[in-house]
Amino acid sequence: MYAENSVALVTGAATGIGLATALAFARAGCRVVVSDRDAARGEAAAAKVRALGREALFVACDVSLPGQVEQLHRHIQASWGRLDAVCNNAGIEGEMAPTADCTLENFDRVIGINLRGLFLCLREQLRLMQAQGSGAIVNMASVAGLVGFGGLPAYCASKGGVVQLTRAAALEYAEQGIRINAICPGAIKTEMIDRITHEDPAAERQFAALHPMNRMGTAQEVADAVVWLCSPGAGFVTGQALAVDGGLVAR
Ligand SMILES: NC(=O)c1ccc[n+]([C@@H]2O[C@H](COP(=O)([O-])OP(=O)(O)OC[C@H]3O[C@@H](n4cnc5c(N)ncnc54)[C@H](O)[C@@H]3O)[C@@H](O)[C@H]2O)c1
Repeated sequence: MYAENSVALVTGAATGIGLATALAFARAGCRVVVSDRDAARGEAAAAKVRALGREALFVACDVSLPGQVEQLHRHIQASWGRLDAVCNNAGIEGEMAPTADCTLENFDRVIGINLRGLFLCLREQLRLMQAQGSGAIVNMASVAGLVGFGGLPAYCASKGGVVQLTRAAALEYAEQGIRINAICPGAIKTEMIDRITHEDPAAERQFAALHPMNRMGTAQEVADAVVWLCSPGAGFVTGQALAVDGGLVAR
């Protein structure tokens, strides 16, 4: 159970896992800061939160830009004066190519959003949470941060970095009432996966077969795990990289 008037922030909340998470926080009783670099779809996502009867604030932010990240967190502090739960979810898959063919531009773009961008957000959130002496953060990693996947070297490196950043920060703030965990989803049926499979049924079946459950996951299944990890019910859980992956990394 979340305390009355808890404030939750989700980055990359316009669609997919981020949108499902924003709605799940709202159903759990939170006021939700919906943030995304896509303003039109972000505003629409905030309207969906309001349709559930909860307050929502949309703040446009590209997490790779330090000035915008600072502004996002200043806006939250000025508007609602606290930050209780966060899902640092914004991320991109980048271009598919083996390591020798991965361009520097692609590598920098993927790391710049998935790892450096998440770090920029995390730093601001920790400052706010330190001041209030509480908070819970979930960083969106991937099974690609736990095991290797050919063709996505920058993505794998970025998500492995997110897992380790999570562990390091969790240790640093464990005594200050701030919990920091990562979630490592398997393939989740969103626009990101559709861009990779081109919605080709054979490619989708191949992705499904990577998981012992022989299916892809849903954004809702990831969102439910985020809301639990940020809740008081997970009060003794920190520094974990929780796979939500139909058993993929258990093989
Ligand atoms: N879908 C999967 O199979 C899968 C698996 C493992 C991990 N993940 C991770 O989950 C997260 C969400 O994935 P998804 O499948 O919902 O993706 P998606 O592409 O469907 O949605 C991503 C959202 O993030 C936003 N975004 C992208 N770059 C941004 C930036 N620089 N600043 C702010 N917002 C930005 C997009 O506008 C979009 O709304 C990502 O971090 C992704 O790496 C996804």
